[in-house]
Amino acid sequence: MELISIAIDGPAAAGKSTVAKQIAKKLGIIYVDTGAMYRALTYQTLQENIDLEDEKAVMEILNKIDIRLAQDKEGQRVFINEKDVTEAVRYPDVTASVSVIAKHPLVRKKMVAAQQELAQDNSVVMDGRDIGSHVLPDADVKIFLIASVTERAKRRFEENRQKGIPADLHTLEKEIEKRDELDSTREASPLVKAEDAVELDTTSLSIDDVTNKILEICQPFIEKLGIR
Ligand code: CDP
Ligand code: CDP
Repeated sequence: MELISIAIDGPAAAGKSTVAKQIAKKLGIIYVDTGAMYRALTYQTLQENIDLEDEKAVMEILNKIDIRLAQDKEGQRVFINEKDVTEAVRYPDVTASVSVIAKHPLVRKKMVAAQQELAQDNSVVMDGRDIGSHVLPDADVKIFLIASVTERAKRRFEENRQKGIPADLHTLEKEIEKRDELDSTREASPLVKAEDAVELDTTSLSIDDVTNKILEICQPFIEKLGIR
């Protein structure tokens, strides 16, 4: 069976998951939000009061829990064992700590293996930081989404306001800058644009504009597979 893989990377709040969900829906393929996996582990580490810097202790947690991604009509839900933590993993305490958890090489090794397994038997659109550069180096389409930090902070502010998550614009901008810095400078598969990725600056683009541009880039593969 022929499969298609689409990798979408970029810094925080560039619009990756929103457009990835739309593309997955349009093409009838699976959406994989890899950030949710790192967020779930961070959530559990915070619950258990473990030192986030202690990779061995964090790995003990990772090895004893089951992080599961499930598809629903809105996109994806994330579970730790049987507990639905989809909303909980988006809260500011998790967001503030996730880059510390995501820098540990052993954590990444296990997460990446699980992500690669998902793409082995399914057509996927996968979003994250290292998908085109590391997780799916042979992806059919690689996109690197960017937008100014001011615009990204505004988008996250509006999103949080709608969800009732407490937020302050200035604090959000600082948090996004700090997380981008940590993600870009870590040693293990940092946030980086893959050499063969197409960069799209979404600062002044709507969600539909971005989705349509990516679908255009995917068109040769879509035709080949006869998806639509
Ligand atoms: O949605 P947002 O951009 O805020 O973040 P996310 O995609 O949920 O990712 C949360 C964090 O997980 C990132 O800041 C990275 O530290 C980490 N992450 C990663 O290291 N590698 C990935 N493939 C995905 C996320
Ligand atoms: O996944 P990532 O962190 O890159 O960003 P996101 O969660 O998809 O997008 C953050 C927010 O920006 C969402 O509320 C989107 O609706 C919004 N957005 C936008 O206003 N314009 C875009 N071109 C893309 C996303």
